[in-house]
Amino acid sequence: MSYETILTEIKGNVGLITLNRPKALNALNSRVMTELVAALQQFEADEAVGAMVITGSVKAFAAGADIKEMRDKTAVDMLKGSFVDAWDSIMQISKPIIAATSGWVLGGGCELALLCDMIVAGETTKFGQPEINLGIIPGAGGTQRLTRAVGKALAMEIILNDRKLSAKEALAFGLVNCVVSVEHYLDEALALAQSIAERAPVAVRLGKEAVNQAFETGLTQGAYVERRLFHLTFATEDRTEGMSAFIEKRPAQWRGK
Ligand code: CAA
Repeated sequence: MSYETILTEIKGNVGLITLNRPKALNALNSRVMTELVAALQQFEADEAVGAMVITGSVKAFAAGADIKEMRDKTAVDMLKGSFVDAWDSIMQISKPIIAATSGWVLGGGCELALLCDMIVAGETTKFGQPEINLGIIPGAGGTQRLTRAVGKALAMEIILNDRKLSAKEALAFGLVNCVVSVEHYLDEALALAQSIAERAPVAVRLGKEAVNQAFETGLTQGAYVERRLFHLTFATEDRTEGMSAFIEKRPAQWRGK
């Protein structure tokens, strides 16, 4: 499939998506969101792909939702639009998604990075939710995911007063996995994705589902869901292979079954 606003390629076992609207700093218009979802779903269905990386340019991962596209929209246009559907579709992807960020990660761009499972940040990355400057608030999960990541006081400052977070600050708050030089952040993200892609695929998928439950439920219910998913891993051939390989002192051969 060919796209207008993104580039896609498979590197090893990793599906790489590059947001590609450099003149608009990768602003997320409806075309980008539709193509992004289509590409993620294509990689989701491809058995050769075990993990995905979303990246942008060195100057901007993404500078937010497209303000030029949004300016003339009414509340009802926004309500009826497919913008929110795209975010829900990304949440349904079962394989791990890593954001490889650099430069501006703003508004919907920040929300997209937060929706990913992990973030490898180039050292120039600046996270922010500057919607307040436009007379709006974040609309793709920013008030919720950012607050869970950095706590209420700082989230309020970021959302109400356009406070930006540097890559190092984001690392200190556990928002990102690591901070890497601009030359290496994409390679680092691809290496992390490849390493995950080489592990038992069903267990990776269930592990992602279980961790995400921590954001949806209380401790007792979350631990219950985890227990059930843990039990489910015992129905896989990979579980038998993994334990046998350990005991026989050899590398496991994962089959995704
Ligand atoms: N939407 C549409 N176009 C955008 C854009 C956006 N979010 N961000 C940047 N662009 C465009 C600019 O209009 C400009 O285009 P032209 O050359 O045609 O004028 C081009 O990208 C380059 O931008 P700048 O000249 O502004 O570049 P800069 O280096 O001086 O500044 C910046 C960079 C600080 C990121 C600045 O562009 C900026 O503040 N962008 C807007 C950020 C923003 O407000 N994001 C939130 C959007 S709302 C949202 O995301 C809602 C939600 O929760 C879903």
